[in-house]
Amino acid sequence: MVNFFTDNWENIQNFQARPDDILIATYPKAGTTWASYILDLLYFGQQERQTSVPIYDRVPFLEIFFPPHVSGKDQADNLPTSPRLIKTHFPVQFVPKSFWEQNCRMVYVARNAKDNMVSYFHFDRMNLAQPEPGDWSNFFQRFMEGKMVFGSWYDHVNDWWKKKESYPKIHYMFYEDMIEDTGREIDKLCSFLGLSPSAEDKMKVTGGVQFDNMKKDDMANYSTNPVMDFKISPFMRKGKVGDWKNHFTVAQSEQFDEDYKKKMKDATLQFRTKV
Ligand code: PPS
Repeated sequence: MVNFFTDNWENIQNFQARPDDILIATYPKAGTTWASYILDLLYFGQQERQTSVPIYDRVPFLEIFFPPHVSGKDQADNLPTSPRLIKTHFPVQFVPKSFWEQNCRMVYVARNAKDNMVSYFHFDRMNLAQPEPGDWSNFFQRFMEGKMVFGSWYDHVNDWWKKKESYPKIHYMFYEDMIEDTGREIDKLCSFLGLSPSAEDKMKVTGGVQFDNMKKDDMANYSTNPVMDFKISPFMRKGKVGDWKNHFTVAQSEQFDEDYKKKMKDATLQFRTKV
């Protein structure tokens, strides 16, 4: 971890969730912003804040602590919306206990490891609060060793997957499914949330959250965030399944697949690296 996510630890762990809070949880770069935007449009699409408040303020990042900016925890405490949509990258064991006690709904998004790794690499290049990624081959090794901010991808996706068995209010989504059929995944999400938008509203949400639309929307594309250097890489970079093929050498892909088999033993959790 880096200090921006640990310095406010006790306060975060003591966060008081409300029963209607919705936690959006992901490993970094798995589709957090996409899911946040979908949920925000579903609940609050008609409101003016859509065009004036950046997504990272509408859906606060619970564990971020980056003085002098207001902490994610304080932002979440003061959210005026109901429900409150709250983002976290925590591995499941670090989710503040009040979320479980209040029986909150949680939406988890997972993305295949290869594309997730590539996206994370470019993010570490452009986000000044993240550690320097080093060169690609070095980053590739560290990802497999789990030496990343927020830890091992393998543990993250597996532990959240397992948690569903004992805590049914987790809706586990896959980035690849969202790419394949956004409308279908929004339908499933709505049924989990108990929402039934009109066909027209659903079309608006499905259209509004397509990559090209979010990329040009300054409230969704992070262009207003001073911690990111868009000259190095944009936040909304490619938004594709399979970009890993432009980064992994054949030897790296084989090495990765070999290691993956050893770490990903649960046959019920399957990822797709192409759609
Ligand atoms: S963060 O910093 O952890 O919150 O990042 P996160 O939002 O989880 O992930 C960013 C990646 O998601 C892609 N993205 C999308 N893909 C497809 N469609 C839509 N609408 C969309 N919105 C965000 C974004 O482009 C990043 O992936 P890469 O592969 O880097 O392009």
